[in-house]
Amino acid sequence: MRQKVLVTGGMGFIGSNFVRYMLKHHPDTDIIVLDKLTYAGNPANLADLEGEFRFVKGDVADPVVVDALVKECDGIVHFAAETHVDRSIDYAGDFVRTDVYGTFVLLEAARKHGVDRFVHISTDEVYGEAVGRPSLETDELAPKSPYAASKAGADRLAFSYHATYGIPAVISRCANNYGPYQYPEKLIPLFVTNALEGKKLPVYGHGRNVRDWIHVDDHCSAVDAMLQDDGHAGETFNVSAGEERSVLEIADIILRTLGLGDDLIEHVADRPGHVMRHAVDAAKLRKTYGWRPSHDFEESMRRTVQWYVEHPEWWGPIRSGEFRDYYEKQYMLAD
Ligand code: NAD
Ligand code: TYD
Repeated sequence: MRQKVLVTGGMGFIGSNFVRYMLKHHPDTDIIVLDKLTYAGNPANLADLEGEFRFVKGDVADPVVVDALVKECDGIVHFAAETHVDRSIDYAGDFVRTDVYGTFVLLEAARKHGVDRFVHISTDEVYGEAVGRPSLETDELAPKSPYAASKAGADRLAFSYHATYGIPAVISRCANNYGPYQYPEKLIPLFVTNALEGKKLPVYGHGRNVRDWIHVDDHCSAVDAMLQDDGHAGETFNVSAGEERSVLEIADIILRTLGLGDDLIEHVADRPGHVMRHAVDAAKLRKTYGWRPSHDFEESMRRTVQWYVEHPEWWGPIRSGEFRDYYEKQYMLAD
C-alpha cells in the first residue's frame, strides 16, 4: 500500500475521479493533488471531499514546486496534461510544454528523491490508427495529432527514465473515458449539454470514426492495480473495456436517452488528421492483474447522460465561461 501519493492533474476529469476512487478504496493513503487549474481544472470536481486530501495549485513544469512535493511522496500518478486534440491543432506548443516538458520535470524529481512507484498516464492515441485489430503494447507508435505526439514523447520519456535510471515507472495507455465531471469540450459531455440547451450536435465529417469507450471508474481501478504493484517496472499496459462505438452511435445513445430525435445531428467540417479508429487490446492487463471492467456500457452511458441532466450547476458555469469563446471559435457559430 502506498502511503503518500502525488496525483498530478487531480482537478481534471479522470484525476478527480481517481482521487474520489482512492479516498473510497484506500482511505489510509494520503493524497496530494498538484494541479495548475487550467481551463480544464475545476475545484468543483472535488468540492464535496475538501479536507480529505491536500491541494497544491501549481505547474508540473515548475521544478521548485514539483521537487518539494515529490520529496515527501512515495508514489506518483501523473495525469496532468493538455488533453484536447482540437486545441492541440491550434496550440501545439502548450501540449509540448506541459505533456512532454512537465513529465520531464516530474521524472527528474523522481530520479533525485527516489519513489516506489511512478504511474504514467499515457493514452491509446499514441498508436495512431488501429488498423485491422485493436493495438497491442508492442505495436509501433504513430501518433497523428500534436496531442498524441506530445503524449508519445512523455510515454517514452517515462520508459527511458526506467531504462536509464531505474525509476519504477509503469505506463498506462487507456482508451476514451466517459463518466461524470468531463469538461464539455469532449464528445460525450459536449453532445449531452448541447442537446440539453437545444443546440445541434456537431459531428465531424461522416461520423463513422470509432473510439473504444471505457467508464472512468474502470480506468481508475486499472491505475490502482498498477500503483499497488511492485513489479512490472518499465512495462506498458493497455486499458480497454472492448466497447468500440462510432461517433454516430454515441450520438444516437445520447439522443435516445434524452428522448430527442436525430434532427439535432449536424455534420460539420472534419477534424484535420482525424483518426478513423482508436482501440486497444487489454489482454495483458487482464492477465497480469486479473483486472476486469465492471461497468456495462449501455447502462453506464445512460447513467452518465443522466448525471449531466441532473448537474447543470456543474456544467452551466463552465459553458458560460472560457468555453463559450472556445466553442464559437471551434465551431464558428455565433449562438
Ligand atoms: P482534463 O483535461 O480533464 O484534465 C487535465 C488536468 O490537468 C486539469 O485539471 C488541468 O488543470 C491539469 N493541468 C493541465 N496542465 C497542467 C500543468 N502544466 N500543471 C499542472 N496541472 C495541469 O484531462 P483528462 O481527460 O482527465 O485526462 C487526464 C490524463 O489522462 C491525461 O494525461 C490524458 O492524456 C490521459 N487520458 C485521457 C483519456 C480520456 O478519454 N479523457 C484517455 C486516455 C488517457
Ligand atoms: P474527443 O472527445 O475529442 O476525443 P478524442 O479525439 O481524443 O478521441 O472526440 C471523440 C470522437 O468524436 C472523435 O472521433 C472526434 C469526434 N467529435 C465530433 O465528431 N464532434 C465533436 O464536436 C467532438 C468534440 C468530437
